[in-house]
Amino acid sequence: MTNPSLLILPGDGIGPEVMAEVRKIIDWFGTKRGLAFDVSEDLVGGVAYDAHGTPLHDDTMARAHAADAVLLGAVGGPKYDALDFSVKPERGLLRLRKEMDLFSNLRPAQCFDALADFSSLKKDVVAGLDIMIVRELTSGVYFGEPRGIFEEGNERVGINTQRYTESEIARVAKSAFELAMRRGKKLCSMEKANVMESGILWREVVTEIGREYPEVELSHMYADAGAMQLTRWPKQFDVIVTDNLFGDLLSDLAAMLTGSLGMLPSASLGAPMANGRPKALYEPVHGSAPDIAGQGKANPIACILSFAMALRYSFDHGQEAARLEAAIERVLADGVRTADLMGPDDGTPVSTSEMGDAILAALD
Ligand code: NAI
Ligand code: MG
Repeated sequence: MTNPSLLILPGDGIGPEVMAEVRKIIDWFGTKRGLAFDVSEDLVGGVAYDAHGTPLHDDTMARAHAADAVLLGAVGGPKYDALDFSVKPERGLLRLRKEMDLFSNLRPAQCFDALADFSSLKKDVVAGLDIMIVRELTSGVYFGEPRGIFEEGNERVGINTQRYTESEIARVAKSAFELAMRRGKKLCSMEKANVMESGILWREVVTEIGREYPEVELSHMYADAGAMQLTRWPKQFDVIVTDNLFGDLLSDLAAMLTGSLGMLPSASLGAPMANGRPKALYEPVHGSAPDIAGQGKANPIACILSFAMALRYSFDHGQEAARLEAAIERVLADGVRTADLMGPDDGTPVSTSEMGDAILAALD
C-alpha cells in the first residue's frame, strides 16, 4: 500500500518560516506515531514567478491534482506588487482553488482557554468555543453575471449578481452536513430568505438535503441575525453553512472572537476523489506578513493547525489531530507566546522555531 501524499507549497514571506515548523511536526508523527506520508515540496506565488515566470507552474498544478492533500503557506509580498495582474502571486492560489474546484471553505473559530483573555469579548463568552463556519467558495455574488460598471442615463451604475444553482447549494450543504455528523450533529444555515430569492432557494435546498441527514438538527437564521448571535453567544452554534458573501463576513467575524490571525487555520474542500476523500487545500488564514518576514517572529500555529485539519479531514487521523491540538493548548497554557499573542508589557516572546520546538516537546 502506498502512503498518503501531501504536497507542501511554502510560498512567500513567512510561508517558508512557518512551514519549517510544520515539517518538524510531520516528522514527529512519522517517527513517533508511525504516520508515514509521501511529502513533496514545490513552488507557489512569488517564488514560483521568480523561477518560472508564472505563480503556479502547470507541473505544480498537476502534482496538486494528484496529491491527497495540499498544504500551503502564504503568497505575495511588496516585491511583486508591481507585477501584471495575470502573474501576481495571488493568481497562483486562485488557480489552485479554481482548478481543484474547492467549493467548501472550512473556517474554525476555536478558543484555546489560555488565550480567552485575549478576546475582545468576555472570557465566559469565548472560553471553550469550538465552532466551524462552512462558506461556499466558488459561486455567488463574487462570480455571478451580469457584472460591471455601466452608463445608465446620465450616471454610472455598478452591478453584481447573486446567482446560485440548486446543485451548487446542494454540494456545499452536503459537505456541511457531513461535517456536522462528525461533530455535534447541529447545523445552522444562514441566508437572507426574507429579502433575496437566492436565499429562498438556499433554504429550500438545504432543507431537502437535510432529509438525508435525519440525525443532524438543522436550523435556519437570517445572516444579519446570525452576525448578532455570533457575537452575543457564539457557543449556541456548532456548524454554520452559508454563501460566499455572508461567509466571507461571518467567518472573519467568528475568527476574531478568539484572538490572533496567527492562530487561524482553514481548509478548502472539493468533490470526492477516487479514494472517497475530498480534494483538499489547507492553509493558514493569514498572508505572507512582509512586515515580520525573515525575522523569526511569525506564529507557526495557524499553519500547524492547518496540518491538524489535514490529519482530520484528509487522512482520517482525528485522534492524532486532537493530540496535536492538545499539545498546542498545553504550550499556550504554559505561557509560551509568539509576539502576536502578547501585549507590549507581557514579557519576552518566543521565536517561530522556539514555538515549534515547544509544541514538539509537549507532543513528547
Ligand atoms: P497578512 O496576513 O500578511 O498580515 C497582516 C498582519 O498580521 C501583519 O501585521 C502581520 O505581521 C500579522 N501576521 C500575519 N500572520 C502572522 C503570523 N503567523 N504571526 C504573527 N503575525 C502575523 O496580511 P497583509 O499584510 O494584508 O498582506 C501581506 C501580503 O500577503 C500581501 O501581499 C497580500 O496580498 C498577501 N496575502 C496572502 C494571503 C494568502 O496567501 N492566503 C492572504 C492575505 C494576504
Ligand atoms: Mg475576508
